[in-house]
Amino acid sequence: MTKLTRTDFSDLDAKDTLAQWRGEFSLPPGVIYLDGNSLGALPKVTLARMQDVIAREWGEDLIKSWNTADWINAPSRAGDKIASLIGANPGEVVAADSTSVNLFKLAAAAVVMRPGRHKIITEPGNFPTDLYVLQGLKDYLGPDYILEVATREKIPAAIDKDTAVVVLTHVHYKTGLMFDMAAITRRAHEAGALMLWDLSHSAGALPVDLNGSDADLAVGCGYKYLNGGPGAPAFLFVAKRHQEAIKPPLSGWMGHAAPFAFSDEYTPAPGIRRNLCGTPSILGLAALETSLDLMVRVDMAELRKKSQKMGDLFIRLVEEKCGGHGFGLASPRDCALRGSQVSLTHPEGYAIMQALIARGVIGDFRAPDILRFGFTPLYLSYSNIWDAALILAEVMTGGLWRAEEFQKRAAVT
Ligand SMILES: Cc1ncc(COP(=O)(O)O)c(C=O)c1O
Repeated sequence: MTKLTRTDFSDLDAKDTLAQWRGEFSLPPGVIYLDGNSLGALPKVTLARMQDVIAREWGEDLIKSWNTADWINAPSRAGDKIASLIGANPGEVVAADSTSVNLFKLAAAAVVMRPGRHKIITEPGNFPTDLYVLQGLKDYLGPDYILEVATREKIPAAIDKDTAVVVLTHVHYKTGLMFDMAAITRRAHEAGALMLWDLSHSAGALPVDLNGSDADLAVGCGYKYLNGGPGAPAFLFVAKRHQEAIKPPLSGWMGHAAPFAFSDEYTPAPGIRRNLCGTPSILGLAALETSLDLMVRVDMAELRKKSQKMGDLFIRLVEEKCGGHGFGLASPRDCALRGSQVSLTHPEGYAIMQALIARGVIGDFRAPDILRFGFTPLYLSYSNIWDAALILAEVMTGGLWRAEEFQKRAAVT
């Protein structure tokens, strides 16, 4: 294979049909941002929208804005926009709470929807919050319940007549390895179990087809590929066919059929809204919705193609330019099995990532040894990939990561 050159990358940029999106985002000069899988970049329109929601809707119109600015319907409005990105229908998604809380709400509801079944299945190495929430739920349910943590190969056989719900993350946070959503969902259904997907690393990163896969339930983050801002509201999906069967475990007033009737008795709202709990974060939803207005205009098939190409090129460049420096590939080489990230392993991964960040290439580190590079085709160029790999090669050949300042672990890695 002939070696890649910088011109290959500028040629790809010249033909890039998504190039115009880059101007929609605000990124500091000199930064190559490869961490949109953790915190998406700031859409330029969000600044103006936040100014408006704070100064006018809150500052001037005060509490009237619940009606005049329709704040009250923001969770469903944002939800409908997310629905269009994940293969769901309007009325099947709401934006609310955090992914962790939504996971608890839906996993707990799923167990109640499958009475007489005592098993929840997930996989080891799933994102910690998924494991912790399920461990907490199991303890809460009592000694009759089991949390089976089965490796990928063993999951199909672990799903049985006692399984209430299978909870998996579609794209793995460390490796980017993707599950076959339709196949695992089918297996869960064969045994009469429900399937709950965590789409945190999928929504806005690649085409997702929840209804095409017959999925029952899903949750996901608003602050990663959806660019909703730090701590943005998360989302949850309940397939239409299950909505009236859901008994919300957090039966708050915002999920009531008539919150402003102030009755003493809880009556769940019809449809997806019963999955809301308390007063929504309007500022968070305003930022999320603004970004979603931009995301819904993106051709997801084109985005996926560019993301796969970027990942493939990055792997090739790292192997060409950093061979012999001890990197391993933690992500699938086959881009059809990979989400929108490439993860490398290295025993000195933390210090190497800090040295990269100091040179403007921002990725992140996941213990014990993973360097994660996220590819967000809307605000990255192909030339960014070339530059990032070259800077990584400089960091390695110069041993720059050995500097004292890169050894000390910060609270967030
Ligand atoms: C797969 C997955 N689920 C959930 C979360 C986070 O959940 P929360 O927003 O509740 O902190 C993350 C965050 O990185 C994640 O990668």
